Amino acid sequence: MKKIAVLIFSLACFAACGKELKSFTPGEIWPDDNGVHINAHGGGLLFHDGTYYWFGEHKVEGDAGNRAMVGVHCYSSKDLYNWKDEGVALAVAPEGSGSDIEKSCILERPKVIYNEKTGKFVMWFHLELVGEEYRSARTGVAVADSATGPYKFVRSLRPNAGQRPINWDESKKKGSTDIFERDFEGGQFSRDMALFVDDDGKAYHIHSSEENKTTHISELTDDYLDFSGKFARVFPDRYMEAPAVFKRGGWYYFIGSGCTGWDPNAARSARTKDIMDEWEELGNPCVGEGADITFGAQSTYALKVEGMDDAYILLADRWRPKNAIDGRYVWLPIDFEDGKPVVRWHDEWDLSYFDKK
Ligand code: GAL
Repeated sequence: MKKIAVLIFSLACFAACGKELKSFTPGEIWPDDNGVHINAHGGGLLFHDGTYYWFGEHKVEGDAGNRAMVGVHCYSSKDLYNWKDEGVALAVAPEGSGSDIEKSCILERPKVIYNEKTGKFVMWFHLELVGEEYRSARTGVAVADSATGPYKFVRSLRPNAGQRPINWDESKKKGSTDIFERDFEGGQFSRDMALFVDDDGKAYHIHSSEENKTTHISELTDDYLDFSGKFARVFPDRYMEAPAVFKRGGWYYFIGSGCTGWDPNAARSARTKDIMDEWEELGNPCVGEGADITFGAQSTYALKVEGMDDAYILLADRWRPKNAIDGRYVWLPIDFEDGKPVVRWHDEWDLSYFDKK
């Protein structure tokens, strides 16, 4: 009996004291440097000065975890396998404070980009005000002097109020415009979102708009803290969610999902040569068993691995809405076949996958 107790204690210690990880095991518990499952859901990565930073929704236990009780959690890593807990980068405001990011608001899919001109780290996220469920459809912005924060909340908004997109004439031929017109004065819906910084330093905010029917791609101002007013409507009436945008060989790629809440559905992909022009849909990038439900996950980010040739990783979430903190991360390599992204399941894999290609 005593021996079993010692064995259990040693096993627990081994897990908690953090052994060095050397591979990705999609869908499994992913311990941080304290041996605690990483808490950064709907996240995104930033590479800055030789370090990766992972920002995501800090979830708590139970279905309360579907609301923001804590804020945005940050982790850092040099190798993408082993993550150091850097704590809460953006904290929600106390209940009753009147802030837009009051505790128990919905704060999802935070993404951080670095602005070379201002030297500031800029975080954008999807925000639903307390008590409004998913009716606010706002985007929020926060700013910090260092990657790990603390981030200071700046404001939240409905973007592009009173503006027409640059492709209005073409886009209105391809799908409905009723919701767009409804929100024209007050600003457009902004729900699931991604950020993308192009080679010329211009940043874009990609978001599900018009009650999720149509995606908007909006240029940010030079300081990344506001919308410039230039935007395009893409994928009219396609109900795209969970956008992830990246660039490879002169093509912009989009990976996203359909619109079924926390339940997984088949992923979608697309590409274009001009981020604000028409996108060519390429179908479900996932292949093999479980491909019809994105292996039980939903995209959140696409990472270009630094210092490796043609190495891209799709980051996705397996949501557990009944016990949100137990959500899992599904990171899988992206292959390219005839210019199309292809994602296959791997129980375990590491970065040497890209050397073998
Ligand atoms: C998903 C969305 C998640 C979350 C969820 C709520 O479609 O991608 O970020 O908003 O709906 O049901």
